Amino acid sequence: MAQKMRVTDKYLKTLLSYYEEEIEGEAYFYGLVDHFEEQDELKMLARVERRAAESVIPLLEKYKLVPRDESELKTRGESHVQRHAAFDWIEFMTYIVNRYPGYLEEFTALERMAPEEDQYALNSLTEHEVAAIEFANRELAGDPDSLAPLCDYLKKVVICMHNTI
Ligand SMILES: [Fe+2]
Repeated sequence: MAQKMRVTDKYLKTLLSYYEEEIEGEAYFYGLVDHFEEQDELKMLARVERRAAESVIPLLEKYKLVPRDESELKTRGESHVQRHAAFDWIEFMTYIVNRYPGYLEEFTALERMAPEEDQYALNSLTEHEVAAIEFANRELAGDPDSLAPLCDYLKKVVICMHNTI
């Protein structure tokens, strides 16, 4: 008989902190807009962060998890801006390509902790990292259509949200 996955404290804490980190991520990318010429790209990354966070809101509600105040998360996100503000664009894209696969692993680890009915929402969270890495790879390759993975992600999640109404 298949055992029903039990929801652990670790799962709930991780879920909440990943939601909060995406809201922080949005503020971080918006904060970087002042430091790069690639403002449209950074704004798109910020929107993807927000959308990734939104995709797990139903899970926060389901488990009655209450995130920190948005203004506090914004301040926390902005505190990371200076760390990367001195990068040039290629350095920043290289950083994403090298660092974000680690986040991707963390998201897939969260999926493994989750009950099956939560997988769909969590997969949207995981997918945003796939899109960001693909975007950065395309930037490094000089692909003029580099924003496509981010646009596709935003479109897909909107369609998903409409389907649930
Ligand atoms: Fe993110």
